[in-house]
Amino acid sequence: MLSAFAAAVRFVMVAIMTVVTVIAPFSQKKEAKIARMNADCRAAFAAISDTHLKDNFIRLGMFEFGLQDLAQAQDRLDAFVIDGDITDCGDVENWEAVAKTLNKYDISNNNIMVLGNHDTWGGDRTPDYTRETFIKFTKDATGREIEQVYFTTEINGYPVIVLGSEGDNTSATISQTQIDWFADEMAKAAATGLPIFVFCHQPFNGTHGLPYSWEMNEDEDPDTGGIGDASDALLAIVEQYQNVIFISGHIHTGFTNKDSKYGFESVERHGSYTLVNLPCYEYPDVQRGGHINNGTGYVFEIYDGEILLRARNFATGTWLEEYNETIPVTPANPAA
Ligand SMILES: [Fe+2]
Repeated sequence: MLSAFAAAVRFVMVAIMTVVTVIAPFSQKKEAKIARMNADCRAAFAAISDTHLKDNFIRLGMFEFGLQDLAQAQDRLDAFVIDGDITDCGDVENWEAVAKTLNKYDISNNNIMVLGNHDTWGGDRTPDYTRETFIKFTKDATGREIEQVYFTTEINGYPVIVLGSEGDNTSATISQTQIDWFADEMAKAAATGLPIFVFCHQPFNGTHGLPYSWEMNEDEDPDTGGIGDASDALLAIVEQYQNVIFISGHIHTGFTNKDSKYGFESVERHGSYTLVNLPCYEYPDVQRGGHINNGTGYVFEIYDGEILLRARNFATGTWLEEYNETIPVTPANPAA
């Protein structure tokens, strides 16, 4: 239990942090437009998470700062991904605001939306409502035709698999049907011999500092903050292949790296696969670890031998190079 003094200090810190993050886009000098590091880049895409949008001018305004930066890229992006908790509660009004705002900006020909737990909390919170609403607004906001909350696509030929919860829990509800589908899609993706990008809003259980990093609390249940029941089954499939990049959000930490004091990192290397946890785009909260600020995410640049992750604050148009990461690409996946 926080003392009254500690609670007051925390309230003041949150208030200050909120003000700082809201005014940052106005006060910081734009550095450099988004451009590829090297000419032999095969594909480049931007990924953010947890925009928590609703019909609120501050949240939509912060989103638009980032969209402006993305749309003004010197080298047009091959894709733009929002990795879940796109809306604050999944209501139609939230999604209409997302579609209207996203459609104002020409960022890429391949915008990808991923379902987060907050996106499952609209209407009557049933899987039918969530699926139909997500399908409708994926079409309205990105032009993409999907049939389920999980689907496959590609970025310049690189396979992309998107997972999505079929329930309204904070963890992910992944049916056996979806797990089986994932196994099949991973086998097909591996046959390309290319790195495979998997997006899921929730990270694997116990990764990126979980369960501690969920609320910075030592006493959480081991599965807290992760995918939940299906985590082990999905990870067992991922582990079978080379060069899998699994990209999540959900935890609401900021950028962290090996030099961070928190003991967990945004990017975890595990031999054949790499786990990337995107920072929270819009939900400043000083009790979470890492470089907390509105507007953050990564630009991924794919090369033949490596994948560069370039940390950026899209709302301020500034690179955060201390959080960049390089993922080596090992010899290709064997043909299935
Ligand atoms: Fe979130």
